[in-house]
Amino acid sequence: MNTVPSLSALYDRVSRVIPKAEWMSFEDDIAAIQDLKRRRNAVILAHNYQTPEIFHGVADIVGDSLALARKAMEVEADVIVLAGVHFMAETAKLLNPKKTVLIPDMGAGCSLADSITPEDIALLRAAHPGLPVVTYVNTSAAVKAASDICCTSGNAVQVVESLGVPKVLMLPDEFLARNVARQTKVEIIAWHGHCEVHELFTPADIAELREAHPGVVVLAHPECPPEVVAAADFAGSTAVMSDYVANRKPARVVLLTECSMSDNVAVHHPDVDFVRPCNLCPHMKRITLGNIRQALEENRQEVTIDPAIAGAARRAVERMLAV
Ligand code: 13P
Ligand code: SF4
Repeated sequence: MNTVPSLSALYDRVSRVIPKAEWMSFEDDIAAIQDLKRRRNAVILAHNYQTPEIFHGVADIVGDSLALARKAMEVEADVIVLAGVHFMAETAKLLNPKKTVLIPDMGAGCSLADSITPEDIALLRAAHPGLPVVTYVNTSAAVKAASDICCTSGNAVQVVESLGVPKVLMLPDEFLARNVARQTKVEIIAWHGHCEVHELFTPADIAELREAHPGVVVLAHPECPPEVVAAADFAGSTAVMSDYVANRKPARVVLLTECSMSDNVAVHHPDVDFVRPCNLCPHMKRITLGNIRQALEENRQEVTIDPAIAGAARRAVERMLAV
């Protein structure tokens, strides 16, 4: 059985990114959540964009969308609390149909997931007969069910190439699709969805950063516009960015992605200087220690999936995980 670190040991870990006075206001919720996890046999899965008091304070499993999906399959606890957005909780439920999956705020959505419906996919299939539909995991279970296979930003090129066809539909993120198209010979037809966080970065931002912070290494998420990815030094999923910092140890780095990511990575790398222009994801930020505690205390909000679509949606996710 894992031993739970004391509150002071936890604070030592995050003291570089959370002021002491702010931490003090978190301690009651953190202690209560640790106790509730034990009593309810629950685990907390947290995405890399969660705030550091969640990511480092109460999460049991952390990672990018791909890692959270993979690790969700290995969970032995009775209850999973997904500290992230709704499509991530649905994916955890698809892979753990018998477990209770809770999301602390049902309103934690995603602009990409909102950009496409199963009806849109039916129209696209009619317009492009025979083309496989590769769907980003940032979609509803109903959209996954209408797809052939899912992908994440961490495996999109491999998934597209695994199909062995010259042309695919890749939905709904236009920028991810265009960034993937630059790395493969497979022709890609995209949709017009965008991440409201990453679409805000521009090549001019990168030029300003390079001028203001000479030598800074610029890492971008593949949901950024292709011109931004082209101007960056490296692009990858949130886990790939985190690994880049761990392995290459740049003296100074900027992560063009959601704000909490730099805080979470900086905790492990005191010798790396993080320049921090970033954009907040309002959906990720709906999750707080308070509503995680409430989710465990009151068993809410429970994520359920219509049985009519669950089988097909699960197949699309499992097919991705098998690649
Ligand atoms: P990752 O799969 O890279 O963690 O990205 C998820 C996400 O929502 C990015 O905006
Ligand atoms: Fe969706 Fe963008 Fe927020 Fe990720 S950062 S959850 S893609 S809106």
